[in-house]
Amino acid sequence: MMKSTSKPAILGGERLKAEPWPNWPYMTDGDIEELVQVLKSGNWCRICYGEDSDESKIVQFERSFARMQDARYAVSCSNGTAALEIALRAAGIKPGDEVIVPAFTFIASASAVLQIGGLPVFADIEEDTFCIDPDSVEQLINPNTRGIVVVHMGGRPANMDRIMEIARKHRLIVIEDCAQANLAEWRGQKVGSIGDAGTFSFQNSKNISSGEGGAVTTNSEEIADMSYSLHHIGRKKGDRFYTHHYASWNYRLTEIQAAILLSQMSRAEEQNAIRQENGRYLYELLSGIEGIRLPRQDDRITNNGYHLYLFNIDEERFGINRDLLLEALYAEGVPLFGGYGPLYKNPLFTEKNFGVNGYIEGKTVDYQSAYCPNVEKVSKTGMGFYQSTLLGTREDMETLAESIIRIRNHAHELKSRGNS
Ligand SMILES: Cc1ncc(COP(=O)(O)O)c(C=O)c1O
Repeated sequence: MMKSTSKPAILGGERLKAEPWPNWPYMTDGDIEELVQVLKSGNWCRICYGEDSDESKIVQFERSFARMQDARYAVSCSNGTAALEIALRAAGIKPGDEVIVPAFTFIASASAVLQIGGLPVFADIEEDTFCIDPDSVEQLINPNTRGIVVVHMGGRPANMDRIMEIARKHRLIVIEDCAQANLAEWRGQKVGSIGDAGTFSFQNSKNISSGEGGAVTTNSEEIADMSYSLHHIGRKKGDRFYTHHYASWNYRLTEIQAAILLSQMSRAEEQNAIRQENGRYLYELLSGIEGIRLPRQDDRITNNGYHLYLFNIDEERFGINRDLLLEALYAEGVPLFGGYGPLYKNPLFTEKNFGVNGYIEGKTVDYQSAYCPNVEKVSKTGMGFYQSTLLGTREDMETLAESIIRIRNHAHELKSRGNS
């Protein structure tokens, strides 16, 4: 109690937590051992081994990762953006096809569609889940629509019941963007195994990381084989090495990255359990603070991947707006996610800087008039804590809540700071 009445750091008070918050990526001696093993072997890339060699770290990783995500197949690749391009193309999106994408996500969810010649069409999100709004998806469907990219934002699964129902009704391809959501589960089933394909990122900040990296998961042998080809300059499994069937890039992961991923993955469930526990406790602590709007609880979410712990700030009830709260929490030393802007406001879309892509004869989308009310709103009110912060202690969660409370208690002073 004493703590929350003291001055926040931004007004000259002492930080509630003097030590730094948990660091990321997290590394152990096990990671180093795995790495040294690969370095010493001299086999640093996929083609050093046969296609399905048990010795290959890449093959080992793909098998384990598929199991982890309840999928029959996983194909690794260089990053989550490449995974999206590969999955969209492998699942059958063609140049000129419209693909519905939420307007509140990382740019790759939409730019990957452009990169394969498709046209992203922006759907709104639900304010209280940060995920794509199925009603908005339905409104955007027209004869050119071929697919939906569903983003499990921050690790929270989107409403896959509704999305799959809509997709079946309109015969649409569903790609789950799970970059932020490994281990997340919708009604007992892991994300990335519900739609036609799932895509993952292992970039530095992600819950499983090798600096850069990605994967496509699927239950379809056809999509898995095509993904393999597309990440491997059009080579086909079982065919001669210098025979290429499709125009594509080299999107291969390295053995070095796969070794780190295998080691990182061995801790993933344990770390996810800590985030779950802290996430539940934070919900309890933050739900009593006026002006903090926490996401809707949903029993169908049987596991949250918790890449981000997201919430909204109601300026009127909290006393200051989201940006001022971010500034005040930064001063407390808390690492923070400040939200995305509406994707359609990027010059990429407003100026249609699509390069060779996106100019399919007779097909176009009017991005200038795109407008998603909830995305507009949430881009000003949404914020979150990172997954690494959720790996802190129970006391750390109390410190987070205390920090917010004391900032709120000094809202008036903070607001008038600029006017004095
Ligand atoms: C939702 C989402 N999709 C795709 C990506 C792209 O992943 P990568 O950075 O590995 O290309 C990210 C990464 O930040 C992401 O958050």
